[in-house]
Amino acid sequence: MFTKFSSFISTALIVAGAASAAPASETQVIKRGQRRQLDPPLRLCIGFNYENCITAPVVLDSCLDLVGFLAGWNNNVSSVEIPLVLVCTFFDNFSCLSSGTPDNGDSVTLQGDSYPSFLSLPSGVNGVKVNFDNRTSSYLCSLNF
Ligand SMILES: *[C@@H]1O[C@H](CO)[C@@H](O)[C@H](O)[C@H]1NC(C)=O
Ligand SMILES: *[C@@H]1O[C@H](CO)[C@@H](O)[C@H](O)[C@H]1NC(C)=O
Ligand SMILES: *[C@@H]1O[C@H](CO)[C@@H](O)[C@H](O)[C@H]1NC(C)=O
Repeated sequence: MFTKFSSFISTALIVAGAASAAPASETQVIKRGQRRQLDPPLRLCIGFNYENCITAPVVLDSCLDLVGFLAGWNNNVSSVEIPLVLVCTFFDNFSCLSSGTPDNGDSVTLQGDSYPSFLSLPSGVNGVKVNFDNRTSSYLCSLNF
């Protein structure tokens, strides 16, 4: 099941209302005009333990800012759920700007999984944790193969 879904989306583009002003109700996979939901979707949450979440759009390999209908989540994200097929990087700055070194603490890269607290996240340096609570202003997701 998982393998089948993975191969399906390997050539697919994931989008959901990124360019529209309307809230995305789901995270979708589009292929040849077909839309499929990512299950679970990408969810960004204001509280710890997945309180006050919004289903966020994903455009593969593209930066999305927490503006528009996501503005209430800017500098406000404390927990997230990331689909297993994705790996997402969260940035302190808009436009996914980062100084680029893994230990600068201005971004965190998270494998598809559930993260109930942003107070202590892997920084990319072995064993080093970073407090990323209420810091996210933009994010970028890719397929995790
Ligand atoms: C953060 O979320 C809380 C709870 O929804 C809200 O009251 C507050 O205005 C938000 N902060 C920002 C900067 O949007
Ligand atoms: C991120 O934003 C801060 C404050 O706005 C700025 O000082 C810093 O240079 C920015 N970082 C990058 C990599 O653009
Ligand atoms: C993050 O913001 C929430 C309110 O939106 C607040 O309760 C919490 O203490 C903040 N976290 C940090 C590390 O300041």
